[in-house]
Amino acid sequence: MEFQLKAELKCSGSVSEGVSSSEIEEFMKHCNIELLKKGAPPGCGAEIVRWNVRGEKIGLEIVSDRFVRAHDALLRLKNEFGKFLGRHRIGIRSMEIEDYEIAMDWEEGLAIKKLPFVREIKQEEGRLKLFLAVNEFLLEKRIPDRIIRLLEDKREAASWKGKKEHWELLFESKKKPFYFDKDPTEEMIRLGWIRHAAGRGQWIYGPQLTKIFRAFEHIILDNLLEPLGYEEMIFPKFVPWDVWKRSGHAKGIYPEAYYVCTPKTRDPEFWEEVMDYYKVTNEVPLDMIMERIEPVGGMCYAQCPPFWIFLLGKTIPDEILPITVFDRSGTSHRYESGGLHGIERLDEFHRVEIVWIGKKEQVIEHAKQLQEGYRRIFDEFLEIEWREAWVTPWFMAQEGKAGLAELKEVGTIDYEAVLPYSGKWLEFQNVSVNGDKYPKGFSVKLQSGEELWSGCSGVGLERWAAVLLAQKSLDPDKWSAKLRSAVGELPEVFRFL
Ligand code: SER
Ligand code: ZN
Repeated sequence: MEFQLKAELKCSGSVSEGVSSSEIEEFMKHCNIELLKKGAPPGCGAEIVRWNVRGEKIGLEIVSDRFVRAHDALLRLKNEFGKFLGRHRIGIRSMEIEDYEIAMDWEEGLAIKKLPFVREIKQEEGRLKLFLAVNEFLLEKRIPDRIIRLLEDKREAASWKGKKEHWELLFESKKKPFYFDKDPTEEMIRLGWIRHAAGRGQWIYGPQLTKIFRAFEHIILDNLLEPLGYEEMIFPKFVPWDVWKRSGHAKGIYPEAYYVCTPKTRDPEFWEEVMDYYKVTNEVPLDMIMERIEPVGGMCYAQCPPFWIFLLGKTIPDEILPITVFDRSGTSHRYESGGLHGIERLDEFHRVEIVWIGKKEQVIEHAKQLQEGYRRIFDEFLEIEWREAWVTPWFMAQEGKAGLAELKEVGTIDYEAVLPYSGKWLEFQNVSVNGDKYPKGFSVKLQSGEELWSGCSGVGLERWAAVLLAQKSLDPDKWSAKLRSAVGELPEVFRFL
């Protein structure tokens, strides 16, 4: 990797008059030997290859390898030069970056078209050349380093592309009898249990399916969460950017988010034109609205991230661990392009989100207890056929990353069940050990100083229903006695003419 940087310093007085050229030469030489090589292996680092002094202006050209990157060298140099000029009662007023070129070897096949703070990109013969548009402030914010990191990420992402998704079978249940071969969504529509709502991938669940959802929640509560000491909380369902910055979602969630905007002001006058337009056309003027709103975040996507603000910046005593809480207070929203299907793939869905926090061993051990609990519930209540697989951790997938957690300690287990009507397997819940990612991202510490870990498990109510009904039919007589009694009588409220 090569860096070439041209900058100009503007000083408070004439350098050509105030400092002799031999002194400046001496200074630059010294910097080339010491300052710009510090921390780099022998023979590596940065070098001032040219400089010129014209009155108050000093032109600099620095080249480097990846060890002391030219922008680091420039910042070092500015500091040192400031001290040097200070001895001559001259200060540095400002610094302008005229040109900054970064060149590196690059795969021919991987096209880079646009990058932030890069004004031109040249790509030929296995080389990539970036012409940056940066200033001193951006150098100090380490933007060039971040651009290089971004390229490394893109290179890694490309290496995963085309490869099969990570999936490793961990467990298969016994075969179970299936009592249905139709699409349960179609059947529920036919019976008037559900109807597509006004929004995309959104349904209205009638009394029957709602009762089944509530029974699922009670089964989980009574048979899993209560015995394990869980308490219920209410997590926010609007997620501001700050949460997604900390959780990593800000890196990749954009194509799937449901965005939330607030009015730039709630002054009715500011909105009058919009109201008037609607009144005379009966059309909602989207363009006019867009000018008057501000995106402040998105709707709940992964459910657990906004909870972590509860612990933001806190230190917790070791003896309250493990912390075990869950939330079932609202919807999750994902823009599921194309893949929408019945109640199996939705833009708006309902989930019980289970979160546990503890020391590493506690979190891993607790995940095992949950896994055992789930298996019991699937065998005894749902009587479904399912399998469990080790997959790309959800928190990586949601950041747009591929790959598998190397150790079988941190990562996600997906629970999948076959849908007899299509023969396809549907993921209906997961259990994840998230390592120290969340405590770190939200600066949560343990009194003893030991590492804090966490895990989470999302139970999709629509997905449970899709699996149960697809395998066992909509007829409660075909369900286990335990499930039947948990659900109770299916209510008949509506009739249509
Ligand atoms: N937060 C996890 C996920 O989004 C579990 O629900 O998959
Ligand atoms: Zn979660």
